[in-house]
Amino acid sequence: MKEIPGSKTLGLIARHKEVLATTTHDINFPVTVERGKGIYVWDADGNKFIDCFTQVSIADIGHCHPKVVEAVKQQADKLMACIGTDVYNSSQVEAAEKLARITHNSFPERDWRVYFCSSGGEANNAAIKLLIDRRPQRKKFISFLGAFHGRFGYALDVASSKSLHKRDFPKALDVIHLPYPDCRHCAYEKKPEDCAQLCIRFIEQEYLGRFCDPDEINGVIIEPIQGEGGFVVPSLLAIHDLHRLCQKYDWALVADEVQTGLGRTGKMFAIEHFAAIPDIICLAKKLGSGVPIGAIVFPRDWDFSRAGRHSTTFGGGPLGWAAAKATLEVLEEEKLIKRAAENGAYFIEKLKGIKNHFIGDVRGMGLMVGVEFVDESGGPNPASRNAVLQECVEQGILPLAAGHAQRNPIIRFLPPLIVTKDDIDKIVAKFEKALAKATKAPS
Ligand SMILES: Cc1ncc(COP(=O)(O)O)c(C=O)c1O
Repeated sequence: MKEIPGSKTLGLIARHKEVLATTTHDINFPVTVERGKGIYVWDADGNKFIDCFTQVSIADIGHCHPKVVEAVKQQADKLMACIGTDVYNSSQVEAAEKLARITHNSFPERDWRVYFCSSGGEANNAAIKLLIDRRPQRKKFISFLGAFHGRFGYALDVASSKSLHKRDFPKALDVIHLPYPDCRHCAYEKKPEDCAQLCIRFIEQEYLGRFCDPDEINGVIIEPIQGEGGFVVPSLLAIHDLHRLCQKYDWALVADEVQTGLGRTGKMFAIEHFAAIPDIICLAKKLGSGVPIGAIVFPRDWDFSRAGRHSTTFGGGPLGWAAAKATLEVLEEEKLIKRAAENGAYFIEKLKGIKNHFIGDVRGMGLMVGVEFVDESGGPNPASRNAVLQECVEQGILPLAAGHAQRNPIIRFLPPLIVTKDDIDKIVAKFEKALAKATKAPS
């Protein structure tokens, strides 16, 4: 392994800073990614890493999967520019049919229709627009503290991951933000044994009839497992109760599966773990294996009321549709969801076996796995998290930070669903070395 970060990486970062807008780049994570294959990526200096965050669950089936590459190449030879919201196109129809069928396999209670867009934020905006179009008299939405749904428009309004994203930007939507059913960091300081799902009960007890009436609320948007919020796995009973409330008051249940969806957690959709049936599922990231495409999947009879109520120029475009269809086929053909469930359980068990007093919790589902860092008193320890993350880069693995620094700082692992147990052994060994070096614990 050459020096990390190497001179080409440092040079590229300097050029980037001259010409590109400030976005989310973190000074603690000076990493370039120039090439990818399977579970590996290479930086500008030729250093090889195991991609343990798949660029936030984009490369779920592995980087540059040959089937997707071939589908994209064939499509590029045939047609790249197509305004699929004005004209009709077979690649778009085929991708939508595949996605609707996959959704039907998970939720056979309904027939599903698809709207394609190009990102997760767009998908969440489309979901909310669809719901307002359907029932314009219901103007309020419920969402959860710590949620990340996107950085603009309605998606930003329902998000509350960090005040940094929201402050100064005017709101367009009336949103009630409630504590997420997070039993490790319970907002009411209750224990799961005696809370009786207070976080959900609170809606009926405190909000309805006071802040608003049930028929003012249009829908509830939730990440079935919070991603940016710290890989928080909610209480099963709480999600069950939330689903019951939605049914009781006729609120739409929107599952933001942009990070969790398409097999990542060991089920096609993470909400399946909680036996809740969503009304709308929002997808993006992994759907196109790197070609930008997002989607919402919704009941066939909930379509937009009139042509032109909502639309977009690209909606994934021909390359996105070809990539999405091929990606969904690979998921099934290679049985990646089953593998995510099995290998994820193995990964969590191995991480739980690590003895280090800075590790406060290991949690997750399937191959969506987080390690939370605490200090001597059990409080949040973002400094150790950051130090370990930097050391991981040195060791040749690329996980990523998530969670709130002052609440639940984690290192998140989202390796490709194609990882084997041997790969996981290597990742855990490197992570242990990084931990030992960064926290000076014996390895
Ligand atoms: C759960 C969730 N929803 C929405 C988004 C926003 O997606 P995008 O960045 O493609 O707009 C993200 C991105 O991280 C996400 O994790």
